[in-house]
Amino acid sequence: MERINLLVLSDNLDLRIEVKNLVNDESFAISGYSEFTPEGRTKIINKFPEVVLCAVRGEVHENVFEYVQDLLTAIRGTIVILVNDNISVELVNKAAQYGIRKVMPIDGIGCDAFSESIMTVYRLEQQRILDTNEGKKVRCKALGFFAGKGGTGKTTVAIGVAAQLAKAGKRVMLLDLDLQFGDVAMALDIDKKNSIVDLVQDRGGITIENINGFAVEHSTGISVLCAPKSSELAEFITPKHIEKIIDIMRPYYEYIIVDLPASFGDTTVTALENCEEIYLVYNNEMLSLNNAKICYCILEQLHQREKIRFIINKYEKGLVKTDDFKDMFQTEMFGVVPADYQTAIASINKGVAVTASGPKSAISKGISDIANKIIEKHTGIVPIEEKEGKKNGLFRFGKKAD
Ligand SMILES: Nc1ncnc2c1ncn2[C@@H]1O[C@H](COP(=O)(O)OP(=O)(O)O)[C@@H](O)[C@H]1O
Ligand SMILES: [Mg+2]
Repeated sequence: MERINLLVLSDNLDLRIEVKNLVNDESFAISGYSEFTPEGRTKIINKFPEVVLCAVRGEVHENVFEYVQDLLTAIRGTIVILVNDNISVELVNKAAQYGIRKVMPIDGIGCDAFSESIMTVYRLEQQRILDTNEGKKVRCKALGFFAGKGGTGKTTVAIGVAAQLAKAGKRVMLLDLDLQFGDVAMALDIDKKNSIVDLVQDRGGITIENINGFAVEHSTGISVLCAPKSSELAEFITPKHIEKIIDIMRPYYEYIIVDLPASFGDTTVTALENCEEIYLVYNNEMLSLNNAKICYCILEQLHQREKIRFIINKYEKGLVKTDDFKDMFQTEMFGVVPADYQTAIASINKGVAVTASGPKSAISKGISDIANKIIEKHTGIVPIEEKEGKKNGLFRFGKKAD
């Protein structure tokens, strides 16, 4: 299953590091830090972590409790744990009144005990949510599709996965961040009347209303925010815009699929940093393998390695083996999509996702497997596709995966 996201809320920089160092369990990932500010509140709401570790040294003032209370009304389903160095019965009682699930010490508690306590609280909360049917708000995942090489099939796979996720009933935004040469609009036969540039230049600013206004609803069920109409307009988009667009979209979509160009520009790096997962799409040939190595190293330097999953697209027998990729990167391939030029070309001609153009083709099967695996990893539920013709091709869901 997924790692549990923790966010450390503290005004004290040293304390943030102390708390971070106490979390050494593989089950957890620190998804960010924030302060007791209005911006911090927005950040937490958008990140929607499973657990907020609210860390304070010394007396815990009233405004900390009020901040937490306000936060909890905005994001149900997130647990707040107070970390303090001066725990008393009064403090624990007061914390409970404000909806804080546990008060934990900073000093004298080892990493194991610290992580174990968080896990216990988390499990109890999960059970409570199940029992009370709470937690309606969905957690959003931003998934980037990238490679340092053009033509590997990033766009094709990103569109196909987005379409399959939508078919499975998920709310999906497809964001074309190949700002100079983005071709999602062309591939999906969308009139590029409005694009991301129109959004950032609009007087109303980057709001969810504007995003919805400038995005296009495609027949596949996905919303699409297109790349600029011409490449020179790309310069109007800054990394700050990218961060803000993704942040604002998060509460409204279950998946943000980000199609990226074949280079590490500023906006691409910001997009990668703001994605939970990075799908590297390569082909099983030598130039791809070599490029994958370079990309992997750069992503490692950018502290993004943990997010990488590999997809081999246009797979053909007799070329580089998928095992060579596996050995090189010490990881299983997340998905393998066979080469199928007929279906790929037909889908572009029809302006639909490959999965819609040839639903029974091998390429569709490969992409559907990827989408199903993504759902399974995030929810623990294995989607089972209905047989053709039944229930409009919708998905029903199988039992929980182990
Ligand atoms: N599995 C596949 N089999 C055959 N052709 C494919 C496959 N995936 C993509 N293509 C084709 O490869 C070309 C490049 O794909 P594209 O998705 O635009 O790559 P990228 O976004 O990485 O530049 C397109 O013509 C596309 O139709
Ligand atoms: Mg592309």
